[in-house]
Amino acid sequence: MHDFPMTARKILVTSALPYANGAIHLGHLVEYIQTDIWVRFQKMRGNECWYVCADDTHGTPIMLRAEKEGIAPEQLIKRVHGEHSRDFAGFHVAFDNYHSTHSDETRHYAEDIFKKLKAAGLIEVRAIEQFYDPIKQMFLPDRYIRGECPKCGAKDQYGDSCEACGAAYAPTDLKNPLSAVSGATPELKSSDHFFFKLSDPRCQTFLRRATREVCKAQPEAINKLQEWLGEPGDNRLTDWDISRDAPYFGFEIPDAPGKYFYVWLDAPIGYMGSFQNLCARHNLNFDDYWARDSKAELYHFVGKDILYFHALFWPAELEHAGYRTPTSVFAHGFLTVDGAKMSKSRGTFITAESYLAAGLNPEWLRYYFAAKLNGSMEDIDLSLDDFLNRVNSDLIGKYINIASRAAGFVQKRFGGELQHQHLIDRFRADMPGLIEAADEIAAHYEARDFAKAIRKIMALADQVNQYVDKNQPWVLAKNPEHAELLHYVCTVLINAFRLLTLYLKPILPHLAKEAEEFLNIAPLHWADAGHLLPPAHVINAYEHLMQRIEGKQIDALLAANRESLAPATSAPTPEPHSQQRHAEHQQHVVQQEQKVKQAPATSGKPPASVAVAEPSISIDDFAKVDLRIARIAAAAHVDGADKLIRLTLDIGGETRQVFAGIKAAYDPATLVGRLTVMVANLAPRKMKFGMSEGMVLAASDPDDKNAGLFLLSPDSGAQPGMKVK
Ligand code: MSP
Ligand code: ZN
Repeated sequence: MHDFPMTARKILVTSALPYANGAIHLGHLVEYIQTDIWVRFQKMRGNECWYVCADDTHGTPIMLRAEKEGIAPEQLIKRVHGEHSRDFAGFHVAFDNYHSTHSDETRHYAEDIFKKLKAAGLIEVRAIEQFYDPIKQMFLPDRYIRGECPKCGAKDQYGDSCEACGAAYAPTDLKNPLSAVSGATPELKSSDHFFFKLSDPRCQTFLRRATREVCKAQPEAINKLQEWLGEPGDNRLTDWDISRDAPYFGFEIPDAPGKYFYVWLDAPIGYMGSFQNLCARHNLNFDDYWARDSKAELYHFVGKDILYFHALFWPAELEHAGYRTPTSVFAHGFLTVDGAKMSKSRGTFITAESYLAAGLNPEWLRYYFAAKLNGSMEDIDLSLDDFLNRVNSDLIGKYINIASRAAGFVQKRFGGELQHQHLIDRFRADMPGLIEAADEIAAHYEARDFAKAIRKIMALADQVNQYVDKNQPWVLAKNPEHAELLHYVCTVLINAFRLLTLYLKPILPHLAKEAEEFLNIAPLHWADAGHLLPPAHVINAYEHLMQRIEGKQIDALLAANRESLAPATSAPTPEPHSQQRHAEHQQHVVQQEQKVKQAPATSGKPPASVAVAEPSISIDDFAKVDLRIARIAAAAHVDGADKLIRLTLDIGGETRQVFAGIKAAYDPATLVGRLTVMVANLAPRKMKFGMSEGMVLAASDPDDKNAGLFLLSPDSGAQPGMKVK
C-alpha cells in the first residue's frame, strides 16, 4: 500500500496530547509547529514517518468543566476535538492521525499495560489518606484545595504550592483549607489506591540506564533526570499513584469497581491508541513500531514541564510491560511574549483561533518559531517587534522578492520559458554553495536546530539578492542586445528561488505549494536539490505569494486577546501555569493532578431575572430586523459625551458609524478588532456628535443598572457582514 525504498527509516513521531478542556494557544504551537516541521522534513527525505497525536480527555478538571457547562464529558471532549483539529489545521500542523484518549484503542492498551505490570509484580494496592469534599462527595486533587500558605501565610493558595513565596508542601499543611469545588471544609478520608512500584530495584536500575539513552540528545535534560533519580541507593523515586476514586472521568480499572486509571497513566498510552487507530486505516503493522524488537524509531516531542512523565514513568511502563521504549524524548522550553509569561491582561495569552481570526498568516508564526528553535530546552521568546521585522525582512524582503523580481521578465519577454541550455555547471559557479548546502541544511533539520537551518538559508538568499543587484535585470531589459543575458540571469534566479523554496518547505508548506504551482513543478522532495529545472521549462504567471505584516494587525491581535473582553460571563479557563503546573512531580509528591484555577461554585451572583414580558411577534416581524455580524474597526471616546463610544463597524466591505452607550463598561482600546452583532437597517439618526447608522446589541439587567453591560459576540468562525437570524 505504501511505497518506501528499502533504505527508508521507519519513524513514529508524537507531540504531547493537549488537554481537552482548553483552547490551543501560541505556547502550545511552539510544540506542534516544531514537531510538524521535523515530520515534514522526514517525509521530504523519503522516510516512512508517521505523526500521531490525540486529545488528552480524562481527569477531574475535564469532568468538572463539563459539569459546569451542563453537558456530559463526552460532549465536551467531542466539541473540543473539533476546535483543536480546526486550530491545528489552521497552522498547517498535519497529523497523520488526531485521535482521542477516550477511545477503545487507548482503553485496550491501558488495560493491557496495567495487567502486564501487575503480572510482573509491579502494582501494589495501599490505603492512603486524602482530603475529601463532603458536599461534593469526591476526593480533592491538590489543585482544588485552597488555603493559607503554611510558610508565609498568604491567603488563597493552592494545595501543593504557594504562588506568593514559592513554598511547596502537602495539602494537609495548608491552614484553613477549603474545597475550591464546593467551598466546604475538606475532611481527611482513607481509600485504597493502586501504585506502580517505581521504587522496585528493577525500575531503578532500568531508569538509571534508560533515561541517559532517552535524553541523549539533550544533556541539560539528563542533568534534570539525574537530579530526580538521585545517586544509586538513594531510592529517591517513590511509587507512583496511578488510580483515582469515583467520581472520575476516565477508564475504570479492570476488576476494581469505582477505581479509575489516573489521567497520566492513560495519556501517553494514547500515543499507542492513536497509532493503532491509524494502523487500522492504513494497513500498517502496530508491532513493527511498538514490539520490543522493533527496528523503527520512536520520538516524543514534549514541553520541559512534562519531561518527567516521558523520560521516567513512561519508559518504565513500556519496559516492564514488554514493549519497546522511546528512541528519544525531545524536550523544549516555554514560550514568553515580549520577555514575559503570556498574560491575559496584556493580551499576550494569544489563542490560535484569535491569531487566525485577526487575519494573520500562520506561516509567519511558523517561520518565526523556526528561527528561534534550536533543539534545546531554553525558553523561546516571541518578541512582537522582532516578529514583524524578521518576517518582513527575511521572508518578503529576501526570499519572495527573488521570484517577484525575475518572474515578470520571464513572462513578458520569454513567454514564461526558461533558457534552453543546460546550465548546471554555470549555475554552480554563479551561485556557489546553493545546491551543495542541501546536506548541511538537512543535518540542521535532523538535529532540530531550525534556527541554524534558517540562518544558512537566509545567507544563501542574501547571496542571490547580491547576484540580482550585480546583474540588474531591469537594466539588461532595456537593451535588446542583452536579451540572452537577461534570459540567463532570470533562469538562474528562478532556479535559485526553487532551491530556497525546497529548503524552506518543511517550515512553509503552504507557501511552498503555491510556489510549486508558480514554478509548474511536482511537489519538491529533498533529493530534488540535486538538479535544476529542465531547459526550456515553462513557469506560470507570478501571483504575489505573501503579504507583509503590518503593525496594526498585531495591535488588533493583542486587543482581541485582552482579558477585559470576556466580562465574567464564562467559566474561568485554566491559566497556563506553565512552569509550575506539573511542579509536584519534581518534588516527588505522590499525588498528581492538572492545575486549574477555579472559583468556588458558591461564589458569583445568581443570574438576573429571566421573566419574559414582551408581547409575542410573528416571524415576519422579526425578519424585518436586519441583524449583521460587525467587526469593530475603530472605537473612540466622544468629546462631551459621558456615556458614548463612537464605533466604526465593518459589516463586510461596508462601514457604519454607531454611537453606543457602553462607555461605563468598556475601554475603547479593548474593543478594536472584536466581533459583535448590529442592527443594520435601523433608520440613521442625527445626534449631537454626528450620524448614528445602526446599533450594537448588548445584554443588561433591566432592574439593576450596576450589574453591567455585556456586548454580544458571535461564536468563532462568524465573518463581518454575515446575517443573524
Ligand atoms: N495533557 C498533557 C500532555 C499529555 S502527553 C501524554 C499536557 N497538556 S497541555 O495541553 O498542558 O500541554 C501540551 C503540550 O504543550 C505540552 O508539551 C506542554 O509542555 C506544551 N505547552 C503548553 N504551554 C506551553 C507554552 N507556553 N510554551 C511551550 N510549550 C507549552 O501537558
Ligand atoms: Zn507562601
